[in-house]
Amino acid sequence: MTYTKHYSVLKKECISHLTENVLTDESVYFADLTFGGGGHSFEFLYQNPLFQVRSTDQDPDALKNGQARIQSEKMEKRIKLFNTNFVRFPEMVKNLCPEVFENGGFQGILLDLGVSSHHFDEAGRGFSFRFEGPLDMRMNYTSDDFHTAEEIVNEYKEEKLVKIFTEYGEEKYAKKIAAKIVEERKVKRIKTTKELENIIFHCYPKDQRYGKTNPSTRVFQALRLEVNRELEVLSDTITQLIPLLKMGGRLAIISFHSLEDRIVKNLFKTASESHDIPVQILTKKPIVPTEEEIFNNSRSRSAKLRILERVEIKKDKNKYKRDFKQE
Ligand SMILES: C[S@@+](CC[C@H](N)C(=O)[O-])C[C@H]1O[C@@H](n2cnc3c(N)ncnc32)[C@H](O)[C@@H]1O
Repeated sequence: MTYTKHYSVLKKECISHLTENVLTDESVYFADLTFGGGGHSFEFLYQNPLFQVRSTDQDPDALKNGQARIQSEKMEKRIKLFNTNFVRFPEMVKNLCPEVFENGGFQGILLDLGVSSHHFDEAGRGFSFRFEGPLDMRMNYTSDDFHTAEEIVNEYKEEKLVKIFTEYGEEKYAKKIAAKIVEERKVKRIKTTKELENIIFHCYPKDQRYGKTNPSTRVFQALRLEVNRELEVLSDTITQLIPLLKMGGRLAIISFHSLEDRIVKNLFKTASESHDIPVQILTKKPIVPTEEEIFNNSRSRSAKLRILERVEIKKDKNKYKRDFKQE
């Protein structure tokens, strides 16, 4: 399976903010927990021969493509790519990468959340209503730990479907769509993206079926978040990453959904107020893509980047160390 090229969002901003504190002539370690097409990981490697990267992805296609790229660019000595959900990274990295902690920890950790272009462009993965495909949507399609979208659509109770479509998709016709799904699945199991798209389409009033946004957009997004338990995994991971940072090290998270951004914002705030490990939030407001980036890649339009730094002693509790300006 060819891996669709992924345009890395906010690449320049992430790399410059995560690398600007580096003052060393020894190896410096970065973690890219959402390797995808490797855009961010490789950019770290291109910056400086002392930079080392430890990456994860849970998607078999991303891993296969990534290993091939690492070999073809002869980077085996500088990057390790692990097959895992990033929620397990904090516990595994100490055993598998002791060299990072002999060096004080990570200088930078990056999460570029969600799915990659490959997921949307590969019909067989079931993420997109643009193509006929099985209703799967698991990033890790080899794992039985996750329900597929087909299982959710056909087996969840009607009220639970309403809740998911409303909370994760902000879908205004959530009730109508859930009721229609339940009616249809009594006749025949709903198995494909186009079958689901057709149901949603007919739940929309006629004058709203051909607007700028396809009627299926919100429900498909909601199902994807539920299938991969994206919000739960994110909430469980953020706080665990902070102890992996070296002094002056930074954690950067790019989110694409308001619910994700709220989790990042709140957990960063809680961490900055806690007495455990001092951290300072560097982005009072999130960094967003420039108009030029949005023009070149419309999928970047909802991106928000937030960054925090591990510090020796926190400055004034209510003052951000400094606000990053858009370049
Ligand atoms: C937006 S893409 C990252 C793109 C990458 N930064 C680049 O420049 O090519 C997100 C990637 O993270 C992976 N991913 C999302 N959630 C994950 C999780 N909980 N654990 C591991 N990988 C995850 C997805 O499979 C996908 O490949």
